[in-house]
Amino acid sequence: MAYELETVTRELVAPGKGILAADESDGTIKKRFDSIDVASTEENRRAYRDLLFTASGVEAHISGVILFDETIRQSSADGTPFPELLASRGIHPGIKVDKGAKTLAGADGEKVTEGLDGLRGRLEEYRGLGARFAKWRAVITIGESIPSDYCIDTNAHALARYAALCVEQGLVPIVEPEVLMDGEHTIERCYEVTSRTLERVFSALHEQRVPLDQILLKPNMVISGSECPVQAPKEQVAEMTIRCFRNHVPAAVPGIVFLSGGQTDVQATENLNEMNKLGDLPWQVSFSYGRALQAPPLAAWRGQTDNVPAAQDAFRHRSLCNGKARTGEYTPEMEERAVA
Ligand code: 13P
Repeated sequence: MAYELETVTRELVAPGKGILAADESDGTIKKRFDSIDVASTEENRRAYRDLLFTASGVEAHISGVILFDETIRQSSADGTPFPELLASRGIHPGIKVDKGAKTLAGADGEKVTEGLDGLRGRLEEYRGLGARFAKWRAVITIGESIPSDYCIDTNAHALARYAALCVEQGLVPIVEPEVLMDGEHTIERCYEVTSRTLERVFSALHEQRVPLDQILLKPNMVISGSECPVQAPKEQVAEMTIRCFRNHVPAAVPGIVFLSGGQTDVQATENLNEMNKLGDLPWQVSFSYGRALQAPPLAAWRGQTDNVPAAQDAFRHRSLCNGKARTGEYTPEMEERAVA
């Protein structure tokens, strides 16, 4: 089992490749569909995911796709179950297993992620449905007097319990502690909170005997708050992010797969590229983007069957750009392409 988990982990962060996060919960996908005036029906959600998963050529840069509970049970237009379709293209199917971030009792404005009850049984079922890896997202908010140690510790403990159960059940755990970019805070404050969070997460993983060579870390980049008047440039984001992670993430972890967290698609690619340009990193530095991979295809699709080729082209393009950013070979000229 350990060999299988190490293999899947390595394949997920193979050179030139990264992960598509297509695991939006019902509430989140409705928000995305509202933005393009498309009703969030089960068939529309299926059709949208179908266009992403059947886009030709993306397997060159996409190693895995994170699915939602509904999606892992759905099929492509020709009746092939999505997990089977992805696996046939050499793309590992993954599954979001947390039940969302809820109000943390006694901690004003802070959240804790739920979903541990019955998790062992759900993981067993998902593995039977074809999942080879899983994801659990914890949310840390920056504010005047938050995050509290209480919030960080509670979330770190839950992340480690989830990760230990995944390893037991034969699924690679993606451990996602997300320090939100919402707010006016500076990049220095993000560095400090991300450091504190990573320290507690790795301490909990260690206490709960999680083998670090069988997990992937999915963190935020160290970045200025979205409302901060002075936005740090990509060179500073790359330098501070890598410094922060070198100080807190053991080299045994095979890969760091960043979330995009509200960055624009191009910004997320540029920042990833800049980090890989630094070179000589102890882990693979890759992506597990949701919005930064999906914003262009979503805008091109608009719920119309006729737009499917253009949407697939947009997805292929972002996959290629991020694939190049994996080795620091992305250039701004790559954005100047004829739109399909
Ligand atoms: P974003 O890249 O849109 O932040 O989504 C990644 C993700 O999976 C969040 O949990």
